[in-house]
Amino acid sequence: MDQPLYEKIADQIEQNIKEGMFIPGSKIPSVRKSSKQLAVSVATVLQAYGLLEDRGIIKARPQKGYFVQEQVTSYAESTTLEVNTLEAIPAVVTDLLYASQNPDITQFGAAIPDTQFLPIRQLQRSVGRLMRLKPEICAAYEFVPGSLNLRRQIAIRMLDAGYHAQPDEIVITLGCQNALMHALQATTQPGDIIAIETPTYHGLLQAVNLLKLKAIEIPCHIETGLDLDALEQAISEWPVKACVVTPSHQNPTGSVMDLESRKRLLKMCKTGKVPIIEDDVYGELNYHEQRIPSIKSLDGASNVIYCSSFSKSIAPGFRIGWIIAGKHQQEIEQLAYVQSLAIPTLNQKAIASFLENGAYDRHLRKTRQIYAANLQQIQQAILQHFPIGTFTSMPKGGFLLWIELPKSINALTLYELALKQGIGTMPGVAFDLSQSFTHHLRMNYAINWDKSTYNAIRQLGQLIENIMK
Ligand SMILES: Cc1ncc(COP(=O)(O)O)c(C=O)c1O
Repeated sequence: MDQPLYEKIADQIEQNIKEGMFIPGSKIPSVRKSSKQLAVSVATVLQAYGLLEDRGIIKARPQKGYFVQEQVTSYAESTTLEVNTLEAIPAVVTDLLYASQNPDITQFGAAIPDTQFLPIRQLQRSVGRLMRLKPEICAAYEFVPGSLNLRRQIAIRMLDAGYHAQPDEIVITLGCQNALMHALQATTQPGDIIAIETPTYHGLLQAVNLLKLKAIEIPCHIETGLDLDALEQAISEWPVKACVVTPSHQNPTGSVMDLESRKRLLKMCKTGKVPIIEDDVYGELNYHEQRIPSIKSLDGASNVIYCSSFSKSIAPGFRIGWIIAGKHQQEIEQLAYVQSLAIPTLNQKAIASFLENGAYDRHLRKTRQIYAANLQQIQQAILQHFPIGTFTSMPKGGFLLWIELPKSINALTLYELALKQGIGTMPGVAFDLSQSFTHHLRMNYAINWDKSTYNAIRQLGQLIENIMK
């Protein structure tokens, strides 16, 4: 049987998109225009566009027309779920974290903001004042659950995440990593299975490894986040003991789960008796829209363990994070007490006094604006210098860009070659257990955007071309 006309048209447009005639995010000709250009009826074009929408190639925006999807396309392919473990921590992760301290390297690699985007001066003043007025605080333990002043300030900040916290629900931790470890230890035993997003933050994969857990990798769509149908399937097939999710500006994809998905996730996990571990470390860094309420704020049953820190917005080196553990609070306080006894007093007091003086919101507004502007710059440069067949994510916050390169590019090779030229990147293999993201790259854009950063993108483009030859 002959292929219907609308299918032929859809195939042709798909081909044009693949060959780079229309780049991700760009508008394709209107239905009327295509109907004229192709001398076919409006109804046929509508059918063809509908088919392209079903294939996930274009997307209709009401009143605006049809646009090429910005999404990384390979996600839908990986729907087979299985239980995995981490065999070995990829050396790139540790190499890159050390390389992040080298000022001669362009820091696209680690998820660390450049110091110019952190309130270093204000912290310097706080620390100076504290040491002048109360030098004895260096000698004083600030036992778990941590400084009451800081917990009060965090309770105020939690209102922005939609949650009315009492200071005594909050336990201060050594960054968000430490909070995640506590949450996993409180909900699992070695050998247990948990559900995680894929791709995901490599520190979580390392925690899975250290705690001898097994993980089911649930696809994370770059726009909408965790695939809830896949999670539902996982919960029905395996004894899942916890589900770790980063609903806002996920690392590395930048995805954001909308309110409906958060509610559905909550309901699904409540029914399956699966505790949710919510990692909200990028939650405050949204560029445009109102912040979507945290899953914690929607949870009447105290089934969510909320983890966050000030590492992405104030001072990663201070190692100050927090956990709101709901029904696991007592156990987590015990874990925190045994594992760290106390959290550095000076760091807690300096951050509390920075939060008290009201400068934090101003600081956040400024950095969000810069990151949004940097995102445009880096995407434009990538469009200019990376080959056809490159897709990038469209983050609405945070400062991490996820890039899918043409399939023939081994991103690990690119990482090694780039590092020799003084350019840090993070290859996709660092972000999952099953090594599916071999031609993917994560790039940090919380860096100073100038001619040399632009040139570094151009150099990366040249390296990719050399690999393709
Ligand atoms: C998603 C995510 N969670 C947790 C962390 C760890 O944060 P911290 O430095 O506060 O331990 C990071 C750091 O990159 C992260 O990206």
